[in-house]
Amino acid sequence: MRKVPQVKPFHDVVRERRSVRSFLATPVPDALIRSVAEEARQTPSNSNIQPWHVHIVSGATRNAVSRAMLSAEADDTHTPDFPWGYDELSGKYSDRQMAQAATYYQMLGVSRDAREDRRIAVLRNLEFFGAPHACLLFMPNLYGGVRVAADVGMYAQTFLLSLTAHGLSGVPQTMLGLYADPIREVLDVPSELKLLFGISFGYADPDSPAHRHRVDRAPLAETVTFHR
Ligand SMILES: Cc1cc2nc3c(=O)[nH]c(=O)nc-3n(C[C@H](O)[C@H](O)[C@H](O)COP(=O)(O)O)c2cc1C
Repeated sequence: MRKVPQVKPFHDVVRERRSVRSFLATPVPDALIRSVAEEARQTPSNSNIQPWHVHIVSGATRNAVSRAMLSAEADDTHTPDFPWGYDELSGKYSDRQMAQAATYYQMLGVSRDAREDRRIAVLRNLEFFGAPHACLLFMPNLYGGVRVAADVGMYAQTFLLSLTAHGLSGVPQTMLGLYADPIREVLDVPSELKLLFGISFGYADPDSPAHRHRVDRAPLAETVTFHR
């Protein structure tokens, strides 16, 4: 049986966490998934409303969700609950987005103009990048959605850091939100709960080039202004 690793110091956790897009098929023990969910439960939220509705899928349900997304994609049917709008990115935001994509595809060995290879790489999102588990984050669309989405984003970060602290890996995936209707149907989630995004998770594949993929951050001076 796999030994559960010691929990790591925060300093290491925050630096080690990264989005992993290649996983072993080995399932994570239920008790460990529960520990992560217990830690994520401590997340703060506006007025402590705790608006996250979290569905963790494994085994046959995980496969059914993946099949439903692939089938919707084959039918070219996207049903996002929130505006998509990547074309709104410009300036430094689109520069950072393009730099991230360039690093990732370079690591995969996919060239800029290989459209079909890029499409295949993107569609790995719908197979949870091989992860045996995924966490789907639904929310009620209160307060125009923004403050609730902030709460759910905080939940997701606690979840991701807890995964890292326990020797697991994950990747947040807005792309799963394109298939909100079929995912709700498989999980029997009511339509008033909106799908913000999901997190595929499990044990990172140590042999994958994904481990060599590291995305830079803008220096402090670009994003933080100190006032005195
Ligand atoms: C809310 C959110 C949604 C994301 N959606 C996707 C996604 O759909 N597919 C994907 O491959 N990566 C997705 N990412 C991962 C980002 O590309 C990644 O976090 C970013 O490039 C920084 O890299 P790092 O997580 O390795 O530090 C998402 C990240 C966040 C925070």
